[in-house]
Amino acid sequence: MTESIVTVFRGPHQPDTDITAKLHALETLLVQAAAEFADIRLASSLAAEDNVLFDVVARLKLNISVFSLETGRLNAETLAVVPALQAKYGKAPTLVHPQAQAVEAYVSSHGQDAFYDSVELRKACCDVRKVEPLNRALLGAQAWITGQRRAQAATRKELPVREADETRGMVKFNPLSDWSEADIWTYIRRFAVPVNALHFEGYPSIGCQPCTRPVTLGEDIRAGRWWWEDPTLKECGLHAGNLNRITALKSV
Ligand code: ADX
Ligand code: SF4
Repeated sequence: MTESIVTVFRGPHQPDTDITAKLHALETLLVQAAAEFADIRLASSLAAEDNVLFDVVARLKLNISVFSLETGRLNAETLAVVPALQAKYGKAPTLVHPQAQAVEAYVSSHGQDAFYDSVELRKACCDVRKVEPLNRALLGAQAWITGQRRAQAATRKELPVREADETRGMVKFNPLSDWSEADIWTYIRRFAVPVNALHFEGYPSIGCQPCTRPVTLGEDIRAGRWWWEDPTLKECGLHAGNLNRITALKSV
């Protein structure tokens, strides 16, 4: 990656913030959520926010299982986080893969990189590689947890800490909703949390390799995700509720 991007993207390089109150609230919320729901699961993309949540779950020994959707298009740097977590904590997220037949059907009908051609084909790829596996990974759960933050995108500005995931009929927690990027990196340094090396190469947000590029100073945190699409529509079906919330607010 070019030196200029490393120097202009400040994500991991920001000074520490005071996270005392937010950390207390985060730990309290996760302890209470684990007590309230017998089967609660953390969805980890293996990016910074999710590794923070993984660390809290491990440190407090919470009964929360963790899974990652291994889409088949992840970066090597992302996959390298799995053994890094294993080495530090003695455990790592369970990897959930897409259905081979569905991937083959998409590739043979449209081509492996057809997601560049239209929003519909991009969503169809996300459906096969992420949404169906997510729904499978959550079967039987009562609640799930994500690492989403309000500051990440236009679609997440109203993100609540706790919401009803109506599509899946369960509760959804976004415990880092009000955390800033600097807060996340403060936590990471304090607890020596393993991170994806791409965060040091200009990637604040990391998805599949062909759909993620680095960002430059002043760009939105998720500007590098599906960068060819309208920013107000950039969610895959993992968080369709975010788009529904925006639509509802616009119509008020
Ligand atoms: S998303 O559009 O790809 O979902 P983002 O990368 O900002 O957006 O991730 C937001 C949250 O969705 C993550 O904190 C995590 O909870 C969940 N998530 C995203 N990708 C994955 C993945 N590959 N495996 C498991 N969870 C994921
Ligand atoms: Fe497919 Fe890109 Fe979605 Fe990954 S992020 S599932 S490669 S469209």
